Amino acid sequence: MAHDTPGNPHTDLIAVSPELQRVREVAFAALHLEPGQCILDAGCGGDEAARLLAARLGGTGEVVWLDYHAEDLTCLPYPGGRFDAVHCERVLQTLGDPGAAIAELARVTRPGGRLCLVDTDWESVAVDGLPAHLVAAVRHHLLATVVGRHLDMGRTLRRRLLRAGLPEVTAVPVALYFADPKSAATVLPMLNPAIPPDAGLVPPDLRDDWFGALSEAGSRGDFLATITMWVATAVV
Ligand SMILES: C[S@@+](CC[C@H](N)C(=O)[O-])C[C@H]1O[C@@H](n2cnc3c(N)ncnc32)[C@H](O)[C@@H]1O
Repeated sequence: MAHDTPGNPHTDLIAVSPELQRVREVAFAALHLEPGQCILDAGCGGDEAARLLAARLGGTGEVVWLDYHAEDLTCLPYPGGRFDAVHCERVLQTLGDPGAAIAELARVTRPGGRLCLVDTDWESVAVDGLPAHLVAAVRHHLLATVVGRHLDMGRTLRRRLLRAGLPEVTAVPVALYFADPKSAATVLPMLNPAIPPDAGLVPPDLRDDWFGALSEAGSRGDFLATITMWVATAVV
């Protein structure tokens, strides 16, 4: 495996969620990986996905993983067609110009290779087992203030690939399901009491009520949360 930039030191709980592994299974299947291929994991965070990809290549290929580039994802230091496939998970939701990044990721994918984008539809978050007024207030706060710039990125990936002029576009929604607050907190940060109040994920005046209600629902065993992620793929 080759690493082109220092890893992001941020510990990403999401990356190790078993539910997210189901999303990755869909993405890796869509990449049509074959031994000996050269794969780019763009915006990798840590090396989690890169190691899984490398294992799929049977030790004969190459996985290049990069995180924050000064040049941005809109100016990658690779010649056109450098990679057999490109994987980019939960990155576009944070970018100012995702269309430019998609064009650049397509540029470095060889003709006939696959570009697979994975992202979250934050507006699809739903929970049950908590008081409705708390859910409404926290959900509104989250969507209005906290998560990245493109809350709808997941469900827009298909349209973005089509508008980039790429052929053979497919899109698969994967609903993540959590039956207890602790596992849900790995993916849904507003359910994580360990995240400090100054992160602003929960309205300060509701914080005690919110985490108290979560704890009670966890004890009762009737908590439920879902969120939909999308895996969209094109042949370049
Ligand atoms: C939510 S994390 C996802 C990490 C990883 N892809 C995963 O799914 O576990 C988003 C990552 O995108 C990276 N990122 C954001 N903007 C980027 C850019 N312009 N170029 C490269 N990486 C970027 C961040 O540093 C962060 O590691």
